[in-house]
Amino acid sequence: MIQPIDDLLTIRDLVRFACTRFAGSELFYGHGTDNVWDEAVHLVMRSVNLPLENNTLFLDARLTREERGVILERLDRRINERIPLAYLLGEAWFMGLPFRVDERVLIPRSPFSELLQSGMQPWIGDKQVNRILDLCTGSGCIGIAAALVFEEAEVDLADISPDALDVARSNIALHQVGDRVNTLQADVFEGISGRYDLILSNPPYVDAEDMASMPEEFHHEPVLGLAAGPDGLDIAHRILAHAHEHLAPRGLLLVEVGNSWPALEAAYPELPFIWLEFEQGGDGVFLLSAEDLAEWHAGKNG
Ligand SMILES: C[S@@+](CC[C@H](N)C(=O)[O-])C[C@H]1O[C@@H](n2cnc3c(N)ncnc32)[C@H](O)[C@@H]1O
Repeated sequence: MIQPIDDLLTIRDLVRFACTRFAGSELFYGHGTDNVWDEAVHLVMRSVNLPLENNTLFLDARLTREERGVILERLDRRINERIPLAYLLGEAWFMGLPFRVDERVLIPRSPFSELLQSGMQPWIGDKQVNRILDLCTGSGCIGIAAALVFEEAEVDLADISPDALDVARSNIALHQVGDRVNTLQADVFEGISGRYDLILSNPPYVDAEDMASMPEEFHHEPVLGLAAGPDGLDIAHRILAHAHEHLAPRGLLLVEVGNSWPALEAAYPELPFIWLEFEQGGDGVFLLSAEDLAEWHAGKNG
């Protein structure tokens, strides 16, 4: 489509134009924004490195022809190729923090961000958190945010994908936490040693039925970050089988399984899952203590 680059001069013009084009297109929102207006504001403001908050000051500022060209090209690609905006911008936001992303990693959107923002209270209480594992780390967003919340903790970011770990390392550098945050290549717990006070995981958990019906935007994300077998629980089963061997006394395991939570509960009727509630949306995150897991394993084997 020929874009009216000479008619669109200001940020206000471009946001308005993007809103109109988004509203006239069949797009899926949910990779960072959930509506036309926010998507348009993100596209325009972040393409020219301006803040998302308190941005009215710039609304009538004119953009250069080159800046307008970049925005209009991204607008076209968002609509025609259904590429999530985060990939076009190379950035996503998690717990209010920027993370570098590209098609090697899932776009951060886990409700773990709300949990971390609250310092993981009341679950942590006054417990000392010295070691944290972010299993299936992708961009590293959960583990890096945890490192910023628990300022004394050592954090390991683990993933099976070397490509994802490259992106995670760029985010370690971005947030300047390289003295406390490391990357590990591991197949679930294979490749991980030692015990942790907190194991946080947002593993792949999409079941086969959902995989077959996902909007096009999801096809730009790595399949390895989404698909987890017929019931979406391939990785969750492996986490539950071995987490007790990697939790410190009074340690906690928190895992997101999204829509697959009823299948998980049905598969483990004896496990006392606590399902967390979120004010900002999201569900399917469970918590289990080291003691609950150890007792369950002892019961199975005894
Ligand atoms: C749902 S993505 C989550 C990424 C990140 N934690 C987030 O919340 O944005 C799942 C991640 O698990 C990784 N993964 C898939 N299978 C794995 C396995 N067997 N062992 C470790 N990581 C795995 C994928 O490479 C992907 O980065």
